[in-house]
Amino acid sequence: MDTLTQNKTQEILDTFPINGTDHVEFYVGNAKQSALFYQHCFGFDLVAYKGPETGSRDTISYVLQQNKIRFVLSSSVKSNHEIMRHVDLHGDGVKVLALWVDDAKDAYDKAIAKGAESAFEPFVSKDDDGEVVMAGIKTYGETIHTLVERKNYTGAFLPGFIAKTNAANGNGTGLQYIDHCVGNVELGKMNHWVKFYQEVLGFKLLITFDDKDISTKYTALMSKVVSNGNGYIKFPINEPAEGLKRSQIDEYLDFYKGAGVQHVAIATNDICTTVRELRNRGIDFLYVPDNYYEDVLDRVGDIEEDLATLKELNILIDRDEEGYLLQIFTKPLQDRPTVFFEIIQRRGAQSFGKGNFKALFEAIEREQAIRGTL
Ligand code: FE2
Repeated sequence: MDTLTQNKTQEILDTFPINGTDHVEFYVGNAKQSALFYQHCFGFDLVAYKGPETGSRDTISYVLQQNKIRFVLSSSVKSNHEIMRHVDLHGDGVKVLALWVDDAKDAYDKAIAKGAESAFEPFVSKDDDGEVVMAGIKTYGETIHTLVERKNYTGAFLPGFIAKTNAANGNGTGLQYIDHCVGNVELGKMNHWVKFYQEVLGFKLLITFDDKDISTKYTALMSKVVSNGNGYIKFPINEPAEGLKRSQIDEYLDFYKGAGVQHVAIATNDICTTVRELRNRGIDFLYVPDNYYEDVLDRVGDIEEDLATLKELNILIDRDEEGYLLQIFTKPLQDRPTVFFEIIQRRGAQSFGKGNFKALFEAIEREQAIRGTL
């Protein structure tokens, strides 16, 4: 099977309308320190908080924001709490990909009617700033989609949270919005989850990559990208494919102990400035050898950026029929080789950097070899 790109003008068949990503919640071992890491290194602002001081006896959550991106870092002070069980099994990782909807109960009911499994039933929570309706459905691994209806709410985040800032705010790195969130699923499960997004949520299949598209001498993987009707939600789903050595997806599944979010891709309008800033703040990125840049312009044609700067910062380039894109991938963001970020700037291209897959996966293999997990 070759790479397949669906006709982009097909009609919108979403089970319920989605306005965008509401937030991404990470379960972590130490929310206080994680929040400071994402604030200082990636330039997020602290905007809201809940914890023992606000009446949340067991759980602590810090809410960070930068432009349209909202991250929640959650932990617990109780060793037997569900969050700590999750952290013990998976390490720090993404628990919730929350979707912003207009009617959470209606969205939940429709998804359940089409076969979604409930994570939690719709409930209303209120405080002085209004009310929010939330419901949850399960996706791959232990990851869930919370459906968030906030049209009658004016508070900092959700009822129960207080607005909170600190002196590290105001040091953004130009990160704008979440472009896509990628899931790694078990061998043979990619089509199951693609079918879930198609049949339960009404998403369309955007692109298929088979193991011939995504392989090196040693490892391979397969990937399909699903998207909602307005294109604001894009979920590539990866599964391992057979290769001579252990693929990055196998490594992830081993260390995460199952399926989960592999990377969150974050868009910037100026990738050179953003990446230079992230590097200065200590963020490590995957390394692609200098020879990548020797013939890259033969492949992608003219670009506006200075090639020497892209080479210096190790930013990758790809082109499709609609334009080009620039991208770079961080090393894992926690001790386990699991979740990482992609930083992406789109200059017309709506694809995912297929032309870089080989260079990228060879870069990951070099890291795996150093870790002893190839
Ligand atoms: Fe990506």
